[in-house]
Amino acid sequence: MNLISDMSEVRSQFPILERILPNGKKLIYLDNAATSQKPYFVINAMNEYYSKYNSNVHRAVHALAGEATEAFELARKSVANWFGLPSGGMVLFTSGTTDALNLCALGWAKVNLSSGDAIVLTEMEHHSNIVPWQMLAKEKNLELRWVDVDSETYQLDLDDFKSKINGAKLACIIHTSNVLGTRNPVEKLVEMAHDSGAKIILDCAQAAAHEKLDMSKINADFLAVTSHKMCGPTGIGALLISPGIFEQMEPIQGGGDMITEVFKEYSNFQENEHKFEAGTPRIAEAIGWSAAINWMQKLDMNAAHQHTLMLAKNAAEGLKKIPGIKVYGDHSNDDVSGVVSFLHESLHAEDIAHMLDSMGIAVRTGHHCAQPLMRRLGVTSTNRASFYFYNTIEESNAFVDAVKSIVERFT
Ligand code: ALA
Repeated sequence: MNLISDMSEVRSQFPILERILPNGKKLIYLDNAATSQKPYFVINAMNEYYSKYNSNVHRAVHALAGEATEAFELARKSVANWFGLPSGGMVLFTSGTTDALNLCALGWAKVNLSSGDAIVLTEMEHHSNIVPWQMLAKEKNLELRWVDVDSETYQLDLDDFKSKINGAKLACIIHTSNVLGTRNPVEKLVEMAHDSGAKIILDCAQAAAHEKLDMSKINADFLAVTSHKMCGPTGIGALLISPGIFEQMEPIQGGGDMITEVFKEYSNFQENEHKFEAGTPRIAEAIGWSAAINWMQKLDMNAAHQHTLMLAKNAAEGLKKIPGIKVYGDHSNDDVSGVVSFLHESLHAEDIAHMLDSMGIAVRTGHHCAQPLMRRLGVTSTNRASFYFYNTIEESNAFVDAVKSIVERFT
């Protein structure tokens, strides 16, 4: 699909983009870093599952159960292929990135780290890649080491990473910041972690929406990914694990489907992915995610991302010209996502967001689940517009004009 020339064709596949809001304004959706919109292809795939072959999986022998099981396990294969899972690696379905990071903390780190061991985090992390490690650190007496973010360049301090990773057992790093848009040099960080004998998990919640991640090239031990920011449904994501990791993990939930035998005294567990997926899994969501992947396979991801970057850069440049606005993040290079965070020196972020909403423009406001980063930036919240490939230059301009008019009117 040639994105630029077929923009109206691309947009026509996302019904919500035509939405007229209760106040009569046409929606301009710029909250894509929170969740992306879904094409008909995904909506229809989930509808078809519920209307034609809804059934539980891995249990019964009837026709519907067979069809549902096949579609569910096919979805696992789609996820593995899309993310370039190396042979011998595994896709453990979770409810999203947060659940995947918690599974890594409790299923791997709790088993393999001991009192006094160190974990490296960065000031750029989302709370989902902070709180599970704090909880584990408290339980197991682990040390948490924090890598600095430069508040001028919005980049990780790589020298600081180098010194903090020394002697640590694990690094937990955000691939692409949901606040700054900064794409961290993950390939280098993986190499540095491995050189010093540490494992590394990458939080790819934002990254997976903007680039075709290839785990066999990135070489990280774990990737945490989610469906709903890459055109798929909410409620499903995965912890992708490298070969050799499965054997080092213990299940964190017990129940049906994860066992081979249950006695009164003990149970034996499955020796495949199901060991970590107790209970009825997210069947419709897996099918929807797989549909999203099939849909995105037709998209030129590079062209799509270049288009998104163009919109974000246009917005960042426009915002910088408005008196009193500061933009957080460096949009001068291509190692950024479609996120533009900004703040006005005297207008409250939430007031700006309400006024934008009254004009039909959806942005996010707040600490973005990244309070340590907010403190480093010296703010408590920002406004954040986040673009995706289906947004247009007209929307990017309308957003800048809307902020300008708000600032002119209220200052
Ligand atoms: N983590 C998501 C965001 O940045 C929800 O908005």
